[in-house]
Amino acid sequence: MINVVELIERKKRGQALAPDELRALLGGFLSREVPDYQMAAWLMAVVWRGMTDEETLALTEAMVASGATMDWPELDRPTVDKHSTGGVGDKTSIVLVPLMAAAGAAFVKMSGRGLGHTGGTLDKLEAIPGFQCELPLEQMRAQVARIGCALVGQSPELVPGDKQVYALRDVTGTVDSVPLIASSIMSKKLAAGARSIVLDVKIGSGAFMQTREDARILANALVRIGNQAGRQTRAVLSAMHQPLGRAVGNALEVREAIDTLRGDGPADLWALTLELGAQLLEMTGLAPSRAEGEQMLIRLRDSGAGAAKLAELIAAQGGDARVVEAPETLAAAPVVRPFAADADGWVAAADARTIGDAALGLGAGRMTKADAVDPAVGVEVLARIGDRVTAGQPLATVHARTDEAADAAFARLRAAFRLSPESVPAADEPFEIVR
Ligand code: URA
Repeated sequence: MINVVELIERKKRGQALAPDELRALLGGFLSREVPDYQMAAWLMAVVWRGMTDEETLALTEAMVASGATMDWPELDRPTVDKHSTGGVGDKTSIVLVPLMAAAGAAFVKMSGRGLGHTGGTLDKLEAIPGFQCELPLEQMRAQVARIGCALVGQSPELVPGDKQVYALRDVTGTVDSVPLIASSIMSKKLAAGARSIVLDVKIGSGAFMQTREDARILANALVRIGNQAGRQTRAVLSAMHQPLGRAVGNALEVREAIDTLRGDGPADLWALTLELGAQLLEMTGLAPSRAEGEQMLIRLRDSGAGAAKLAELIAAQGGDARVVEAPETLAAAPVVRPFAADADGWVAAADARTIGDAALGLGAGRMTKADAVDPAVGVEVLARIGDRVTAGQPLATVHARTDEAADAAFARLRAAFRLSPESVPAADEPFEIVR
């Protein structure tokens, strides 16, 4: 029997615990022998004292061992995975997954639902009529063997320990700890079984990490766990000061993802998709270099192979694949109103967090886990930081269920956009790669 008080005391003094002590602590918590208050005390000690790399890996592996794990011996393709730390307008997976499958990889992307100002890939996909995110495991395996990809919900059988620990962290002020975040994210990636993993760590107002320094620390922690666990892992630091692409809201984002696969999407979304995909292609050896990986992705987009693979994926998961040819048939909101600049100037802010809140207020996201989302509503952001605009020019388009909802979104957009009388540089920063 472990002495939990001693483990809490040692962590409080900043000492490292041994892997078997961490396994026993987590195991005790999951079997209800260690009560919530002791686990919470230990979590708070970790928030203040941190964990060594060895401890973080041991906790991650103990989390993985709390449930089932997947591997893919039947596949003759390299397995890949991706995780984003979350942002506003981030529909990258819907573009990247089919392109990577068309490139010859096997990509099982398990995603979440949106909560608060960040959207979730599952909510976006469910804007496609009929699309099923919850697939029986055997059906998913058969689909991946047949078409190379699946876009599904997080399987409850994988890493159940993370769910329990996260629920306690959520109510004890212990979410914001790099080793705890890193072990939570990486345990789910390791359990899903892919051999090459790319992590999109976002920086800015719409992101978990507000500064480059913090994002770099998290990226390093994630990459170290992945590599130490024997997976090829890299992170890409990307900006989230303003939304990614133009569309924020579920059907609007699916439409933008389809446009991007057809060569007609926003430049920032395509650039991020290329970077994440080229890193994966280089890691798997499907491309001999990052640059050649990028060329491969461009060819797959231009030939229509990426869009065709998305149609195949949608059909395989019960959705109406005709949306790929006719994205204008996706749900549309009855009230569509331009939000215009009130002066001439340069866009100094198009704050991701506040625009995410405007979309949430329209019904595109959920405040509590039980809320339903409206697929049709959202915001299209038409002006980016650094753009020159004139009075009366639309900065955004609001897609709302009612005029009242549109008015409320306008109030938020007034706070989100700031115009400067002097020129402002564009906010797009080069990607930083952590490996
Ligand atoms: N996302 C996760 O999956 N876990 C965390 O702890 C934080 C963000």
